[in-house]
Amino acid sequence: MRSIINEKNLNNKKILLRLDLNVPLERGKITDTTRIDKILPTLNFLIKENAKIIILSHVGRPKGKIVKELSLEPICKELQNKLGKKVKLITENIKEIKSKNFLNNYNDEILILENIRFYSEEEQNDNKFAELLSSLGDIYVNEAFSCSHRAHASINEIPKFLPSFSGLQLDLEVNALNKIISDITRPITCIIGGSKISTKINVIKNLITKFDNIIIVGGMANNFIEYFGNSVGKSIKERNCDKIVKEIISLSKKEKCKIIYPEDVVISKDLNGSPQKKECSKILSDEMILDIGPKTIKKITKIIDNSKTILWNGPAGYFENPNFAYGSIQIAKKIIENNKANKIFSVVGGGDTVSLLNNLNALNKFNFVSTAGGAFLEYLEGKNLPGITALN
Ligand code: 3PG
Repeated sequence: MRSIINEKNLNNKKILLRLDLNVPLERGKITDTTRIDKILPTLNFLIKENAKIIILSHVGRPKGKIVKELSLEPICKELQNKLGKKVKLITENIKEIKSKNFLNNYNDEILILENIRFYSEEEQNDNKFAELLSSLGDIYVNEAFSCSHRAHASINEIPKFLPSFSGLQLDLEVNALNKIISDITRPITCIIGGSKISTKINVIKNLITKFDNIIIVGGMANNFIEYFGNSVGKSIKERNCDKIVKEIISLSKKEKCKIIYPEDVVISKDLNGSPQKKECSKILSDEMILDIGPKTIKKITKIIDNSKTILWNGPAGYFENPNFAYGSIQIAKKIIENNKANKIFSVVGGGDTVSLLNNLNALNKFNFVSTAGGAFLEYLEGKNLPGITALN
């Protein structure tokens, strides 16, 4: 993997820069800018080298359709403010761009193509689409570690057509994770939460052999709560997961890795409703699980006390509403306390977890913060990430 930082002669070169600007948006407003802040050094480096920058990114999951709410427009404005330089959003259909020189019309501006997932070819990893994209640039840079686990056209295919490099933040993430994997001290506890259940549930099986405890919270925990005979009412869950949950439980016994899932929860009738503590066996059909309960928090903090390494990815509940943020905050506080006392090594990852910790002003209280969620877990799992393999 060659880093763009070591490249000379970038003067006037057109750089296709894949970023992960998948930041949380609420009614068109960015609620956490960490992912933007982390890629500024690469942008500033390219500006200093007088390169022409063409940014590619997705936000959300529009599934090949134009979704107005998932436009990169607010992100484009934020970038412009942070860089103090004009950033122009290109909304033309990329597939209808006739001349690759059309970008020359925009002289001194940084260009950003509209949400790349508005094109179904992106997620289909379409080779022709990648070829078309690559015709817009001279050099490709992957500065999107957090979506390098996706075999998508702008991540996996473009490097087949252009000299390709890693960005500074991607280098940092890969080096830090490599060091963590080689220097890790037992007992190791991995806390996995969040709402992207389908991305994470399959990863767990491969993590069992590597860790001593896997604590499952957030959306995925609902699949476990249900598997053990409880109703989860209207809670989010992944369909048809009983087989994988069964395999996880049986493998964890064989490998002596403890799987911990909530024994009590906080529910409500809807996302804005009032919180109520409940045993998992008492959840009604019109209720949804939105946080972990006090017994579960106590159990988790005890496990953290008995661990030497903590890897945390994904909040324990719907933290966007403060009524359901308590569980995640207690986990954060315990890790921070033990980290400060030098009792543990702590690594945290994922867009939502980073946003939660940012709200608490606690990002610098962990040993390493990764911007990546799914990619972070798959890297720990030992998988070859399509985006990294393509750079190699
Ligand atoms: C992320 O937020 O983890 C990345 O942007 C990848 O998003 P995805 O899970 O929708 O592919």
